[in-house]
Formats: sequence, structure tokens, C-alpha cells
Amino acid sequence: MTNSNWTALEQHEEQTLIALFERDADRVSKLTVELGGIRFDLSKTHLDDGLLSDFSALANDAGLGAAKEALFSGAIVNTTEDRAAEHTAERGSGNAEAVTHARELQKRMRSLVDAIDVGAFGEIRHVLHIGIGGSALGPKLLMDALGRDDARYDIKVVSNVDGAALAEATRDLDPLKTLVAVASKTFTTTETLLNATSAMEWMQKGGVADPYAQFIALTAYPEKAIEWGIDESRILPFNEAVGGRYSLWCSIGFPVALGLGWSAFEEMLEGAATMDRHFRNAPTLENAPTLAAFADLFYAQCKGSQTRAVFAYDERLRLLPDYLQQLEMESNGKSVTAKGAPLGRHSSPVTWGGVGTDAQHAVFQLLHQGTHLIPVEFIASKTPGHDFDVAHHEALLINCFAQGAALMSGRNSDDLARNYVGDRPSTTILLDDVTPAIVGALIAFYEHRTFANATLLGINPFDQFGVELGKQIAKDIAENGPVGFDPSTTALIEAALGDI
Ligand code: F6P
Repeated sequence: MTNSNWTALEQHEEQTLIALFERDADRVSKLTVELGGIRFDLSKTHLDDGLLSDFSALANDAGLGAAKEALFSGAIVNTTEDRAAEHTAERGSGNAEAVTHARELQKRMRSLVDAIDVGAFGEIRHVLHIGIGGSALGPKLLMDALGRDDARYDIKVVSNVDGAALAEATRDLDPLKTLVAVASKTFTTTETLLNATSAMEWMQKGGVADPYAQFIALTAYPEKAIEWGIDESRILPFNEAVGGRYSLWCSIGFPVALGLGWSAFEEMLEGAATMDRHFRNAPTLENAPTLAAFADLFYAQCKGSQTRAVFAYDERLRLLPDYLQQLEMESNGKSVTAKGAPLGRHSSPVTWGGVGTDAQHAVFQLLHQGTHLIPVEFIASKTPGHDFDVAHHEALLINCFAQGAALMSGRNSDDLARNYVGDRPSTTILLDDVTPAIVGALIAFYEHRTFANATLLGINPFDQFGVELGKQIAKDIAENGPVGFDPSTTALIEAALGDI
């Protein structure tokens, strides 16, 4: 990728959003993509013909087409770890061998769902899903989004090593009726293993005669789970080439398959597969993840935006910003290219967000009048997730659309305190409803958008070495105490932990 591509983008003569709409009557249809029950409206971003052409050239130079083929065909795209990234195979897309393998493992998942349903584990009512990061955020998001009214089991997800999280998760559970799912790709994550050990003790204290019989493991390293004490027959393995933050499609999604039922889980996979086909085959200018990545890159790389904000105007999707934080920041928060050279540009912006309309009364002041340029993303559903008066949903959607309009139009006032500069970009993602298929497609959209961003920057989005140093230092402190640290860290350890 040549620097001249970026120079052209940086020097692009920008027009205001209002001017862009005035000049092109077809702007909405040109910058709207509809598929899989989702409408992606990027018309309130500054993408115009010039930018689209320059970004398309950049994508060509960066080899986006070849990178997509490498991803879907199971080539080694995670070069630093010498692995493919096989999450798309979990939904039947791409590499035939990996798809067959994924299907076999999913059959095991399905059998376990059936076994639990028919009482092979006793009278199970609750599932305590223990995992962290990619081994927790997906199941948590999906159960919160899709399992509110008619979940078949009561699913609790616990991640934090703070015992208060486990205390809260177990508070209303009957240990005799609880299945514990220990979810860890590596089965070495200290927080997860400590929570699993404490859950075991909780079961023992709760009178469960053989707690191990109520434990299952979801992992890419079954041998580690066996070592920990879980019987092989109760382990649901998955392919180690599925990255942690891309793993809700495989056995890490087990509580979703159990809680919502197998057909809902399959619908979710099929929804994601629809997005896979679109990302792989749709032309660049009609390709939702690619266009969204162009807009992301324009603001982060050319306009200096250090953050992007995501607001779910739907209570069912309130955990989406948390999920996206890991997906986007752990994937693309890097200052080195896949070839090991300094990145020389900004890495992925900080993803943050919240839920509308709450956020309007808390953080939108800064979005409208602060000095930072923050691209905003709105996600809403045409169909409400409740039976209360339609006035609720109308108010929700009206507010969502009003915010996008206000960010763009601004309002002039001689009184500077009341002046809105406007021309602030937003993207609106409008779902037909919050269903397994649509949420599957939505999450796959974000995965591919992250991949397209990475490819255009030259980043490997599938490793995460940046998380290792902190883990290593925590281990050193736990093993050796405050030896060899800076005075501040030493004093904090002594003040809080004494002689550990
Ligand atoms: O520390 C980061 C990380 O490795 C994430 O990438 C991952 O999702 C999380 O920890 C949990 O890892 P595991 O599934 O191996 O327990």
C-alpha cells in the first residue's frame, strides 16, 4: 500500500454532509446497503465519489480481495501465530475441510443440548457459564439480546475474577440444578480457572455429591480440561484456529444453543453465513463491511478521530458496545503491521458507547458541541422487544433518527453556547427485528468490517500480544511479591496486600 494513497485521502477536499446531500439526489440509495434483514445507511458519513474511488484504490493496493479469499479459504492469515482464522467455517462459509470439522464438533454440541434436555444431567434449570473476554462477551450479549422472554434455561455468565461477580451470579441458583460450563479457549486463563474452582466449592457446599458430573468444558485444548478434572465426554472442543473474540459460533456459544434451542443457534449461524457471502462477493461499493471500514478509516486516519461511539437504540442490544470493544480494540489496537514493521499510522480508534435514549442525557452534549470529531453509530430495530404501548418504540426510534439529523445539520446561533456546528457524521443500522438470524448477520458484519480495517492498515487482526505483559507481571507479583517493581507499585501492593 503506497503512501500516495493515504496522501490523496488526507488531501481530499471535503464537503459538508448537507452539501453532499444537496448535490446528489441518489445519495441515500448509493450509500445504503440492505441485506439479511438489516439496512446499513452510511449516507450521513462524508464518503463521496472521490473518497470512494480513493478508498477503492487503497483496498486494491492493500489486496483486500486476496485477503478475503485467504480468510475464507483457510490460509494462514494470522501470520504471527502461524494459523488460519477459521471462524467463518463455523457457519459453513469457506474452507471445506474446516467446515466439515466444525459441523462434526457442532454435532457433539447438539447431542449435549439434547442430553441435558432429556435429563441426562438431572434436573438442570440453570447454567453458570464461566469465561472471560471472547469466552464470555458473545454468550452474554446473545442471551441478553435474544433470551429475555423465552429462554429455556436460566443462563448466568460470570467473567470477572472479583468474587463479587460470582457471588451475584450464584445468588439465586440452586447448585443441585446448575450446570457449570467452563469456557476457555486455552484453558489456562487464571480468572476463569479460579472462578471454576470456586464454583466447584460452591457446589460441594451446596450438597452436590459429584460436582464434576455437573461441569462441562468448552475449549480448544481438551487435554487441559481433562487435566483440570473434567471428563472427556463432557468436553466440547473447538478448532484452535477460531480466535477467542470470534468464538461465539463454536462451542463457546453452547449456552446460547442450550438457552435458545438448537434451531435458533442454527439460524444465527445462517444469518452470519449470509453476511459472509455478501462480504466475499458483493462489489466494493455495495459491500456493507467494506464501506463501513472506509468510513472508519477516513475519520480515524484522515480526520484525527481517536474514538468512535456506538449507541444501541434497543435495550436488547445494550451489551453490543462491550462486545465490539473487544472485537475492534483487541483486533486492531496495534502499532505494528503484519509484516513486523512500525504501523506509521493510527491504530484502531477507541470504541465506546451505550444505550439510547439514556446516553442522550449523559454523553451526547460532547458529541454535539465538544471539540472532538466522533463518528457515531446508531443501531435500532423496526420491531419492539416488548408488548407495552407502541408509543415507547415510536419515541425510541424518533429520538434515534433525531440525533443523527441534529449531529448532521447543527444549528446556527449568535450565542456561541447555543451554537451547534453540525456536520458530525453518523451511520445508522436499522434491523427488521432482533432475531437470531439478524443478530448473527450483524455480528458477522462487525467481524468483517474489523478485518477490512485491518487489511487496509496492514495489521494482523487475529493476534493479541498486547495483553501478555500485564498477565506476566500479575503472575510475578503473585509468585514473588513486590520484588523488583517501581516504588509506586511496591507501595500499592504493600498497602493493599501486605506480605503476599
Ligand atoms: O487476554 C486476552 C484473551 O486471550 C482474549 O483474547 C480471550 O478472549 C480471553 O483472553 C480469554 O481467553 P481464554 O478463552 O483462553 O480463556
